[in-house]
Amino acid sequence: MNKMKRIFVSAILITVCVFKTFSLEQVYLDETRPIDERVEDALSRMTIEEKVAMLHAQSKFSSAGVPRLGIPEFWTTDGPHGIRPEVLWDDWDQAGWTNDSCVAFPALTCLAATWNPDMAMLYGKSIGEEARYRKKDILLGPGVNIYRTPLNGRNFEYMGEDPYLAAKMVVPYIQGVQSNGVAACVKHYALNNHEANRHTTNVVVDDRALYEIYLPAFKAAVKEGGVWTIMGSYNLYKNQHACHNQYLLNDILKGEWGFDGVVVSDWGGTHDTYQAITNGLDMEFGSWTNGLSNGASNAYDNYYLAAPYQKLIREGKIGTQELEDKVRRILRLAFRTNMNKNRPFGSLCSPEHIEAASRIGEEGIVLLKNENNILPINMNKIKRIAVIGENAIKMMTVGGGSSSLKVKYELSPLDGIKKRFGDKAEIVYARGYVGDPSGEYNGVVTNQNLKDDRTNEEILSEAVEIAKQADVVIFVGGLNKSSYQDCEDSDRKGLGLPYNQDNVISKLAKVNKNIVVVNISGNAVAMPWVEDVAAVVQAWYLGTECGNAIASVLSGDVNPSGKLPMTFPVALSDVAAHAKGEYPGKLRNDGTDIVDCNYSEGIFVGYRWNDINRITPLFPFGHGLSYTKFKYGKPVVSSNTMALDDKIVIKVPVTNIGDCIGAEVVQLYINDLKSSLPRPIKELKDFKKIKLEPKQTIEVEFTITSDKLAFFDDNKHEWVAESGDFRVLIGSSATDIRQTVRFKLSDDSIIASK
Ligand code: BGC
Repeated sequence: MNKMKRIFVSAILITVCVFKTFSLEQVYLDETRPIDERVEDALSRMTIEEKVAMLHAQSKFSSAGVPRLGIPEFWTTDGPHGIRPEVLWDDWDQAGWTNDSCVAFPALTCLAATWNPDMAMLYGKSIGEEARYRKKDILLGPGVNIYRTPLNGRNFEYMGEDPYLAAKMVVPYIQGVQSNGVAACVKHYALNNHEANRHTTNVVVDDRALYEIYLPAFKAAVKEGGVWTIMGSYNLYKNQHACHNQYLLNDILKGEWGFDGVVVSDWGGTHDTYQAITNGLDMEFGSWTNGLSNGASNAYDNYYLAAPYQKLIREGKIGTQELEDKVRRILRLAFRTNMNKNRPFGSLCSPEHIEAASRIGEEGIVLLKNENNILPINMNKIKRIAVIGENAIKMMTVGGGSSSLKVKYELSPLDGIKKRFGDKAEIVYARGYVGDPSGEYNGVVTNQNLKDDRTNEEILSEAVEIAKQADVVIFVGGLNKSSYQDCEDSDRKGLGLPYNQDNVISKLAKVNKNIVVVNISGNAVAMPWVEDVAAVVQAWYLGTECGNAIASVLSGDVNPSGKLPMTFPVALSDVAAHAKGEYPGKLRNDGTDIVDCNYSEGIFVGYRWNDINRITPLFPFGHGLSYTKFKYGKPVVSSNTMALDDKIVIKVPVTNIGDCIGAEVVQLYINDLKSSLPRPIKELKDFKKIKLEPKQTIEVEFTITSDKLAFFDDNKHEWVAESGDFRVLIGSSATDIRQTVRFKLSDDSIIASK
């Protein structure tokens, strides 16, 4: 270009910019215009500096808006069980606000255990309202990483081992949150299935397992839930960190699924400017944050997607195409959230939220065992109840990592039991064991003094004494939110209960047969004493209303209807990842700190593994008892053959044959009798939760379409349903199949959607 020409072009560009900046018609502010038009208008008004500023954090939990144009900052919050208390601008310590206590909802494992998508909607709507009231735009949750090993310290924040169940539960959660004009941020995408070496683990997994097991819940979040943001995980896949991963982000998420939202890095999950630019990351959070005292004037300027990005553009080493795409996505997010003038105002700690927390907790508690109908507790026969165990009194909403909360209140199991039974029976408490008396996370303290200076023998013998004299013993133990238990950044060291609890339970069971074990955990635990106790209740982390929810189930005010979202194995060697020796992976021999973790069990995760290896679990996936019983009648099928694009309707009558009202989760599994690639013996493909009065029958209807029969053919890179015989297994758990139906798929079909 000659000099005159250059001056001419520059003059035109400047005129366009000036015109745009001062243009009277601010299309981007006009809510009647389509979002994409508003995005283009806003984009055209922004300088490169303003664009880059939107791509990275400006504090621990916020990113910049465009002050000149009135485009607000984004405020994020953990997630996923309640709204995290305010921390300092540039530090994890508490900001010291007094208006930031929240309702703690039950942990996501409990939500999954309800097997009730209506509960997920209620959860999402309620937590979204809390986020909105606290002026947050992005809620960092829910998490849907598949339960591959019971050692994973973060399983309590996820939704179990089955991709279909997790997908069904995540969609309404997202819709509920986003109905508030608050973005859900589904995490941790993808393959973050344990915490050990979380920043350096490179997952090696075949495409079938990736598409059939590890991705479906994320895909449902995007395609059915319409989620607005997604968080990249810490680990690597195909040797690239998941936060800037060509395969996961560009090819699958944005390519195959057409995600039009924002990819947010996990805090400190970004490692490379060039990859962050080109491999699908949109917003970077938390790499290093001491921007107020150390280093450059503002450390956030040195983030991978900050000054280093601008430098590459300025030096002409990279164009602005990726930048424009990222900013378009972020602006779209703004119009969906903080620039949506019609979004509701939200509410905090409302009676409705407390009620929601308590309902979800009650529906998620799983009755694992109930010999001689010891539960519900019959108050006509009981004069004295012994409550034993640290978890009966320990606050569980503080700890566990980023999901730690500062709650308005948390009712302990002991207080819930006292409140419910205290006027009819004497309630005596003994500790039984001392686990972890501490109670602090990032400056939030429980204010509980759980120190006990007695010897273990003294503590145990006190418990045995009170157990001897009680009509019923309720042992409340399990795990807690300390490191190496149900806690971020570390995994459990084994399947067993910590703090010698097995011994305590066995000793108590010797002196009193009427012992009920309430296990509080987000993970399966070994139960070597299971034959010696009368009942076992899986109670998860229930949050604010913990004590009430447990007491409602123990008393029978609520008939338990939760079902396990994961298998409880007898031993770790029964779990595929451990049987294969593929946990936590192997350190590479090349001088790097990369640990390769080969998911060599492929698609055979959880009950799929048990089925092909004929392993009997301690408690199977989908298991959960009730105080009543359900009878499954003979199913009626609309046809015994199914053509491509056709469907089959199956109706199965289910009757409550007991004498109290109760709810059952009727589960439908598919068994492909012959296929060109190995398939699991059964796979969950539908379920319905129904509530029945005594003697009532409900006809449960399921529709089978060919997508429910398909597997991912990694050669074709397509979902394929092959012609041939199938069995439909209808049951009350993965090992309690009550009815089967056989039918034939007459044609092969390729299911379009990846
Ligand atoms: C966690 C995320 C969390 C983020 C912000 C990270 O350590 O992995 O789940 O949202 O911190 O607290």
